[in-house]
Amino acid sequence: MLLRLTILAVSVFVAGSHAAKLDNVFEWNELSFSWPDEKTKEEAIQKGRYVPENNLPLGLDRWNDKLFVTVPRWKNGVASTLNYIDLKTSNKTPSLIPYPDWVSNTLPEREKGPEESTIISTFRVNVDACDRLWVMDTGLADIWGEAKQHSTPSILIYDLKTDKLLKRYVLQSTDLKEDSFFANIVVDVDPTKCEEAFAYIPDLGGYGVVVYSLADNDSWRIKHNFFHFDPLNGDFNVGGINFQWTDGVFGLALGKVQPNGYRTMYFHPLAGIREFSVSTEVLRNKTMATGNNAYYAFKLEGNRGEKTQSSASDLDEKTNVLFLTQLNKDGVACWNVDKPLNPENLGTVAQDSEGLIFTNDLKIDAERNLWILSDKMPTFLYKGLQPNETNYRIFKVKIDEAISGTPCTA
Ligand SMILES: *[C@@H]1O[C@H](CO)[C@@H](O)[C@H](O)[C@H]1NC(C)=O
Ligand SMILES: *[C@@H]1O[C@H](CO)[C@@H](O)[C@H](O)[C@H]1NC(C)=O
Ligand SMILES: *[C@@H]1O[C@H](CO)[C@@H](O)[C@H](O)[C@H]1NC(C)=O
Repeated sequence: MLLRLTILAVSVFVAGSHAAKLDNVFEWNELSFSWPDEKTKEEAIQKGRYVPENNLPLGLDRWNDKLFVTVPRWKNGVASTLNYIDLKTSNKTPSLIPYPDWVSNTLPEREKGPEESTIISTFRVNVDACDRLWVMDTGLADIWGEAKQHSTPSILIYDLKTDKLLKRYVLQSTDLKEDSFFANIVVDVDPTKCEEAFAYIPDLGGYGVVVYSLADNDSWRIKHNFFHFDPLNGDFNVGGINFQWTDGVFGLALGKVQPNGYRTMYFHPLAGIREFSVSTEVLRNKTMATGNNAYYAFKLEGNRGEKTQSSASDLDEKTNVLFLTQLNKDGVACWNVDKPLNPENLGTVAQDSEGLIFTNDLKIDAERNLWILSDKMPTFLYKGLQPNETNYRIFKVKIDEAISGTPCTA
């Protein structure tokens, strides 16, 4: 009895101390935006172009003083889909500033046709090593309602030093499937060869990965069984909501460059508990990747354990530690990729049954800070959030602090 009590006390202490390590930088009951003036905001509300409770933050990434925050058009009335927070602010509940401006984030009146510079709806963005922001635009607005496809899914690339749109690449019809859904993008680039970048885009609805080559102005679609969801691990209980999802490949993360010049891409389906990998040598080679002989180049890294379903992941090149959101555990986990993947080697970085309800996205910045965004998304989608409660939070923690005391240290 005494032994059991001791163990209980220790585990409570560990959970508590882990959660305490995160710095809760920003939080909101409801998002607010930095409107040009009060009249514009009032007009947008009256015309239904801004419905405050329908604005949910989802993805993030950092560049210098900008912390990008996406607000996908799940429902009608999203003010602006691509935004940032000015990190010089001392406000814990800052207004989001549309990026690069309001015009680019304004939903076009007409429904069809590529608006050259308009961002319709974005889930995740990626800051690359060449001071560029890569935006995956799904082109789809009001997903949960009337679902209007304003434009074909596209990649938008911005120069962060000038805030100018460098390129808009529209995915080809051969990249798309009936149920395609492109909600993530990861960029692979050598900072001395910025023009030779590749982007890897998981298709969580169509169970594939699209590769885009900036130098070749080309894209190709890769299929593999490992991109599918695991039917035995699609049941979720998050923030008191039970639901079943069939999302396939979603979380992608790149390891450091190997002696052969290529990286390992770690990936997992959202509805699943296993981690897989493949060399970017395979992904980048259109002939090999789309041929029939690449099956065995994809590897199973291991099983993370029960309830370890994960939306996002990112890898710290200095320690070789992969960080993973933990949707069914209200937390964040880590795995040192130099060790075999099994439940024992999966470390708990943080767990908090209130503050970390639905850890939707995480990213590592250039200064080796880990940023985490939690947003109670299942409650937002299936029930509606309470405007009198803290619903959205952004946390920050130093990588070395995040992994101390976990099996992820070397
Ligand atoms: C890039 O490819 C697209 C077709 O996917 C084409 O429409 C466009 O003109 C190409 N751009 C350049 C600069 O070649
Ligand atoms: C791509 O893969 C094929 C084999 O499928 C190989 O013959 C070719 O050399 C590779 N190309 C490059 C650039 O590595
Ligand atoms: C918010 O309001 C709801 C319903 O009005 C209530 O049930 C809930 O307890 C409130 N939450 C807080 C934190 O006050």
